[in-house]
Amino acid sequence: MIALSSDHAGYPLKEEIKAYLDSQGVEYIDCGAYNTDSVDYPYQAKKACDLVVSGQCEKAILCCGTGIGISIAANKVKGIRAACCTDYFSAKYTRMHNDANALCLGARVIGPGAAIELVNVFLNTAFEGGRHQRRVDQITEIENMQ
Ligand code: RB5
Repeated sequence: MIALSSDHAGYPLKEEIKAYLDSQGVEYIDCGAYNTDSVDYPYQAKKACDLVVSGQCEKAILCCGTGIGISIAANKVKGIRAACCTDYFSAKYTRMHNDANALCLGARVIGPGAAIELVNVFLNTAFEGGRHQRRVDQITEIENMQ
């Protein structure tokens, strides 16, 4: 199960991603936005990230205008490792090396075709573990120091 969320700027891209997930038979929970009326990205990030942290969803896909604001907010949620990606390599390696559990996309930065490639590789790439596990554990340690 995937948690989807966006603000108003990310809404059109989120809808494109929903259509893609539907075509692949991937289930999701849509935390909104449900239209282009203005809505603030921080709480939109939190809604989807809470579903990941609680275990109801495996990963989150978050869209705002740049992908940056929603990623900053998502990374404040304990247990979330959110990556704002615009290229295939980053979306792949943030899974392999960082065990990222939230992909953040900028609807005003990339088109739906590129975004769907990033979604696809993000959802279908496994964490490598090994030496990367130690580094992810260090991220968790820092989080627990706050
Ligand atoms: C909304 O206008 C815009 O600021 C937001 O979607 C996002 O790009 C923030 O990082």
